[in-house]
Amino acid sequence: MKLNIAVLPGDGVGPEVTAEAVKVLKAVAMEFDHIFTFQEGLVGAAAINKTGNPLPEETLNICESTDALLFGAIGSPKYDNNPESKVRPEQGLLRLRKSLDLYANIRPVKAYESLTSKSPLKRDVIAGTDIYIYRELTSGIYFGKKQLSNDGNVASDLCQYSRDEIERIAHLAFRAAQTRKRKLTLVDKANVLESSRLWRKVVKELASQYADVTLDFMFIDNAAMQLVLNPKQFDVILTENMFGDIISDEASVIAGSIGLLASGSIGDKYAMFEPIHGAYTNATDKGIANPIASILSAAMLLDHFGLFEEAALVKEGVDKSLSLHITTPDLNTKYDNISTSKVGDFIEDFIKNPEETNLNFTNIHLGQSTII
Ligand code: IPM
Ligand code: MG
Repeated sequence: MKLNIAVLPGDGVGPEVTAEAVKVLKAVAMEFDHIFTFQEGLVGAAAINKTGNPLPEETLNICESTDALLFGAIGSPKYDNNPESKVRPEQGLLRLRKSLDLYANIRPVKAYESLTSKSPLKRDVIAGTDIYIYRELTSGIYFGKKQLSNDGNVASDLCQYSRDEIERIAHLAFRAAQTRKRKLTLVDKANVLESSRLWRKVVKELASQYADVTLDFMFIDNAAMQLVLNPKQFDVILTENMFGDIISDEASVIAGSIGLLASGSIGDKYAMFEPIHGAYTNATDKGIANPIASILSAAMLLDHFGLFEEAALVKEGVDKSLSLHITTPDLNTKYDNISTSKVGDFIEDFIKNPEETNLNFTNIHLGQSTII
């Protein structure tokens, strides 16, 4: 398969982790005879510094002319601590989502067997958790009308949804549930918010088209609690933009590190894949950022194009790296000095030599000299 991929490394650790995902995709292309080409674009603070614009026209053109996007991370403390700033790195990401109409953000959350002890939650509570969060990404309070009174003392953000916006992502979430445990939970605040009541009404109406899926409803405050009390009760969660933003960070605690959570943002025409973590600026260029979320995002990209065997191999490489403790310091209690690029090297080697499945750390030849 020929794929033209836009790479937007962005800010902070974005460039480091994205480089590892590209490394892995290149290994996949080589092993499976695909042709993947990569085109880089500026976004976020990196783009503001060079052009004054968090999403330069040139970047948008690259994105519109490629098959898929691989995104790194966005944000900089320079702007976080300055609420007065008119131009912000996050605007780059939000405009990108909106311009490409990437309305469904899919965030898988899974408890890795080898990492259950890394989570602050009890092993019994999280073991076996496997959730897909479907977060609406191009509407709601993020994109509703924003107002600030002339005297600067009153501000508001409108949370608005239309039936169409709800329907299109709900269909995707129902279909995902059909391929999984056939349970869909709509998370909302329908006891208070009009927009949530519309979500309930529309999703309930669609349910008759998916008779094999059990639909239930949960208020966001309860869902936030249930996620840490009993995460195994969830299969697919469907929710609006901001609730999804918040509970997906919360859910990452189940996996053991936010550095493991990948995401795909899908529209009818374009698709973008990115880790859910932010720019983690303090870690920039230290080689400590976990590249797995970015590598798993690349696996989601492969799945998206039907390259299931390739994606499965990447995921297997990730599982292997986790079980052998070839991980960055956020997860590693066993070995020091395993850097971002060494994790990527290991997974790249695994893709090239998957038959060496009985590896253990003492007989790892794959990039061994660089790992130990
Ligand atoms: C995310 C991030 C973004 C969001 C920020 C960087 C704008 O937190 O992708 O979850 O809020 O959507
Ligand atoms: Mg977020």
